[in-house]
Amino acid sequence: MFFPEYRARRLRRNDNLRRMVRETSLSVDDFIYPMFSAHGDNIKNPIPSMPGIYQQSIEHIVAEAREVYELGIPAVILFGIPECKDPLGQDAYSDEGIIQRTVRAIKAEVPELVVITDVCMCEYTDHGHCGVIRDGDVDNDETLKLLAAEALSHAQAGADIVAPSDMMDGRVAAIREVLDANGFSHIPVMSYAVKYASAYYGPFRDAAESTPQFGDRRSYQMDPANRIEAFREAALDVQECADFLMVKPALAYLDIIRDLKERFDLPMVCYNVSGEYSMIKAAAEKGWIDGDRVMLETLTAMKRAGADLIITYHAKEAARLLSG
Ligand code: PBG
Ligand code: ZN
Repeated sequence: MFFPEYRARRLRRNDNLRRMVRETSLSVDDFIYPMFSAHGDNIKNPIPSMPGIYQQSIEHIVAEAREVYELGIPAVILFGIPECKDPLGQDAYSDEGIIQRTVRAIKAEVPELVVITDVCMCEYTDHGHCGVIRDGDVDNDETLKLLAAEALSHAQAGADIVAPSDMMDGRVAAIREVLDANGFSHIPVMSYAVKYASAYYGPFRDAAESTPQFGDRRSYQMDPANRIEAFREAALDVQECADFLMVKPALAYLDIIRDLKERFDLPMVCYNVSGEYSMIKAAAEKGWIDGDRVMLETLTAMKRAGADLIITYHAKEAARLLSG
């Protein structure tokens, strides 16, 4: 295959030819839409750094869940903003907690939509860390008990998948064990297996009101400089019977998505996080980029890197563009 006999441009001459040789496709089936459920009535607070995304009370969440379902998006992932926070994050595993009530409301109105719940403590603790604090750091093994209780409580409320995002060691096994012991052996665990200590989470922490009140998350989330460590993290979660593996954030970690896809046989999820969304929105608002095209190009790159599923705040707009 040498020029001038071989000419690569021959397969790019028109749109149908390009369609025939396209290697990666983006579909509404790939998307999971995140939503923030807030305590209260008739609340719909815009998140300034995330245009189009809101903290919403349950009736608005249910209405948006129906819209998401009608757009053909298969799943949502829920984050909760409770009325009260305390050192042990009790709302997280209360039957009347914000997520438990939200899950029941969505499943009553839009039963076929797959409801995934984020399992973590940071939205529920007054200190904003992802677990119980002892001696100034998160106590891993104490936190496992709370995470297991939270996951069980979400399953009891009707969650279809639980997604631990805390980065404690042993959480997938702890959650699997409590689910199996309580009649929920059919509920999958979507593990945030490889989650980096990233500055890209900034806008989310405003949305979920989950900024740590002291220190940072570097004693439990991964160092962005590390790759081999990601393989160890993923291998542990596979051993602990995770059903999905996730890489988070996505855009700056496409190499890790590719590496994990090649090494492991589980469905691969990536989280196109808040800061990635905000950057596109901000640049588009300034007229510096074509927001729709950059969005689709970015999501396609995540698929090309090896993601099977993408958690993305763009899900609704991307679904509309793909169908129109
Ligand atoms: C909670 C959690 C975070 C995100 C998802 N679950 C934030 C964090 O770890 O600080 C980030 C999502 C986003 O930025 O869109 N553990
Ligand atoms: Zn957390």
